[in-house]
Amino acid sequence: MTIKPVFADATPLAHLPDDRAFLSDLIAGFAKPQKSLPAKYFYDAPGSDLFEAITRQPEYYPTRTELGILDAQGATIAATLPPGAALVEFGSGSTVKVRRLLRHLPGLGAYVPVDVSETFLRSEAAALQVDYPHLRVAPVAADFTRRFRLPADLGRARHAGFFPGSTIGNFEPAEAVRLLRLFGEILGDDATLIVGVDLVKDRAVLEAAYDDAAGVTAAFNLNLLARINRELSGTFDRDAFAHRAVFDASASRIEMHLVSRTDQTVTVAGRDFAFAAGETIHTENSYKYTVEGFRALAGEAGWSAVSVWTDAEALFSVHALRRG
Ligand code: TRP
Repeated sequence: MTIKPVFADATPLAHLPDDRAFLSDLIAGFAKPQKSLPAKYFYDAPGSDLFEAITRQPEYYPTRTELGILDAQGATIAATLPPGAALVEFGSGSTVKVRRLLRHLPGLGAYVPVDVSETFLRSEAAALQVDYPHLRVAPVAADFTRRFRLPADLGRARHAGFFPGSTIGNFEPAEAVRLLRLFGEILGDDATLIVGVDLVKDRAVLEAAYDDAAGVTAAFNLNLLARINRELSGTFDRDAFAHRAVFDASASRIEMHLVSRTDQTVTVAGRDFAFAAGETIHTENSYKYTVEGFRALAGEAGWSAVSVWTDAEALFSVHALRRG
């Protein structure tokens, strides 16, 4: 699959997950002893809105803490990027975070937001261009977990990457290594990478962040069942499942599950799936790292540590890495 910069050539992204992929992923996930669903299916329109709402919950500290670090240390973080660099953001979303760096980077060569949602990417890139009229904004519609080509005309600028939000924690460690290595291959020699990584901490703080009192994360998790009903003619009763978020200290990860409250059989696209009372569907992991643990993981992917910044309570970390 070749991905082109959307402003140069507006070919739509070739394959967003369609109903058949969703159904075959569901059948495969429900066939396992521990039933599971891929986390990417969270993000339909209602799911994306619920996710935005999660980031505003008082218990969900990562977003505001990372923004606080970027606000307090933005100038220092920006100073780790080579002059005139092209800055590539993997999964750019709303561009709220990168603005904290851009204000300290008047000489930036280009900003390359990469996102799978082409419509959102276009509107966010256009809005950013209004605020930074002299910055070259070159969006790329792509799934950043697959190899994609940077715009060909970035010139000789060295490349830097930005990957905030502790999204790296939503990958299995081996997958995270693979992804960081891919970023290195895309960015090339001498690249710098700025990554936001949530830190290991007290279980109660972690579990509350993924099970807020207002029930927004629960609604986000349960929306998966509503989506199955809508898109795959499912018969899930949302009230017959509960949201559960638990910290597995030995794996250093938050696990999100949907727990069947009763023995029940659910039909999806004409197939029956049995759930015993208490049985769960595993829907997401969010790995938590120590600074040293993340540096070791990045090292396996060919990145070495340059600097790290944390908040006063050491809830969250922002790492600067250099390739090689
Ligand atoms: N990467 C963030 C985290 O793990 C955001 C996130 C991804 C998230 N999937 C989630 C938050 C599911 C809550 C629930 O915290």
